[in-house]
Amino acid sequence: MSVHYWRNIDQPHKNSFVSLKHSYHGETLGALSVTDIAMFKGEYGALLGQHATVLNPDWRNAGPEESARDYAVRCAAQLEAHLQEHHHSIAALIIEPLVQGAAGMAMYHPIYLTRARALCDQYDIHLIVDEIAVGMGRTGTMFACEQAEACDGASGISPDFLCLSKGLSGGYLPLSVVMTTDTIYRSFYDDRLARGFLHSHSYTGNPLACRAALATLEIFEQDNVIATNKGRAAYLNQVSQPLRDHPQVKNFRNTGMIWAFEVSSPHDDFALRCFQLALDRGLLLRPMGKTIYFMPPYVINEAEMDALAEHTLAVVAATT
Ligand SMILES: Cc1ncc(COP(=O)(O)O)c(C=O)c1O
Repeated sequence: MSVHYWRNIDQPHKNSFVSLKHSYHGETLGALSVTDIAMFKGEYGALLGQHATVLNPDWRNAGPEESARDYAVRCAAQLEAHLQEHHHSIAALIIEPLVQGAAGMAMYHPIYLTRARALCDQYDIHLIVDEIAVGMGRTGTMFACEQAEACDGASGISPDFLCLSKGLSGGYLPLSVVMTTDTIYRSFYDDRLARGFLHSHSYTGNPLACRAALATLEIFEQDNVIATNKGRAAYLNQVSQPLRDHPQVKNFRNTGMIWAFEVSSPHDDFALRCFQLALDRGLLLRPMGKTIYFMPPYVINEAEMDALAEHTLAVVAATT
């Protein structure tokens, strides 16, 4: 849609994308071509468009004396160098805001989003914010991009495209949306067929899924979910303290309702062992390599959080 927009306004040379290292945007061909995870791309390389990647601001890669913010600023400077050189051919920058899920729950400072928005404005490039995993309250605000300060000091940055799914229907029915600006929308609103947006799917606008999304939005409002989750997050942080203090646990991190940490374990099959031991205790953990993460449902109660922290600690102890 971004490339089509640039064609519609007579800039067909703007037809490439930039994504972050270790990005994940899905496995359909367009999305896969801006995904940077070899495991998913490997077999389909010949079918994919070639697009550039830039340093991701994952604070685990910061220098020993460098703060998460400083590292994010350094990564944004590298983005700027890339955009400066290639902006004529770039349609959009696509990012997972604040947390790169498939990269191993890589978390980063919101200053990167502020800088990315400003750079996209400066170089006339769309900013696509993929909130499929992090939207709908997962990072502590309805949308992760609300946590970045805009350049004028206002809270929240506005992307040119915002992608949502997963939590949009409470996880009950498959639904996704791509939201865009009126400017972009208007460029497609034309009697000439070639200017129209002709992507559609058999189940586009599925009424049942849309109803589930409306019901989900109602629950967000009625149950004050975002505010209530703050209490839940504080509680899980509190009961996870022994886990955080475990000598083999590294980089314990939390953004909203996402937690992650690495485990120093000698076992190459750590993920499988961990999964099995957790399952034996009635817990569904799906480690990525040696990274364990929690993305609990928003209905999790204190007893369940106690059990989550306690059993995970036991699983870590048994796998190190
Ligand atoms: C950030 C992100 N983008 C895109 C996708 C892909 O969504 P779908 O599987 O619905 O194509 C996912 C799925 O996990 C995701 O986490």
